[in-house]
Amino acid sequence: MRPMIAGNWKMNGLLAQLVEIETIAVACAASPPQADCLICPPATLLALAARLAAGRIAIGAQTCDAGISGAYTGDISANMCRNAGASAVILGHSERRRFHGETNEQVSTKVRAAWAAGLLAIVCIGETERQRVEGRTRTVLDDQMDGSLPDGLTAQTTVVAHEPLWSIGTGLTPEPAEIEAVHARIRQALVARFGDEGLSVNILYGGSVTPDNARDILQLANVDGALVGGASLDAIAFEAILRSA
Ligand code: 13P
Repeated sequence: MRPMIAGNWKMNGLLAQLVEIETIAVACAASPPQADCLICPPATLLALAARLAAGRIAIGAQTCDAGISGAYTGDISANMCRNAGASAVILGHSERRRFHGETNEQVSTKVRAAWAAGLLAIVCIGETERQRVEGRTRTVLDDQMDGSLPDGLTAQTTVVAHEPLWSIGTGLTPEPAEIEAVHARIRQALVARFGDEGLSVNILYGGSVTPDNARDILQLANVDGALVGGASLDAIAFEAILRSA
């Protein structure tokens, strides 16, 4: 399947950083990569980023609200993200779950809202270091998938991103065999619940992906792309990762 390389800028990015998006868009137009390229800047930059990208790369949001419109001060709906030019939205990132208390149920409701607005939902799951050493990775990820992925999921509307919490922003990554084992389990769970559709869902790996380790990670079985944090802020580093796919 065609891999996806997605950049999550998190709470980074002022107007001046839009040049990174333009640089990647120009590079992708000049020499199309082997992977789908998506950048998710903060909501403040969505519309400008989408205009600059001009269809050469995709632009996504980092979360959205489950509602459509109304008296929800500060919230942004999936439809608003779509209207600003986003074609995707990251949902259930561990930082949203941790700092905003998002539950599996809330993530699932947001996924439905994203689908209804025509957005690709990139649903994040991940285990903590403690859960990992206690041998609970599989149960934790199964629970997150059970609760966060709504019925009716298709490979066209949904991507799953596995991001071990202990790997995010630490420079640490699991051994290749561990990534393969965990991703094989994710695939198995997707197929068990969604049938053949589960075979075509992109499963991204996220956590300290850099130009140095991208090639090794991206060639692993059931790793169909990457969700990149820090290294996505720099066009040169992000393009190097994109070209590793
Ligand atoms: P880093 O690539 O900075 O480790 O972040 C990963 C991540 O959380 C992407 O969503």
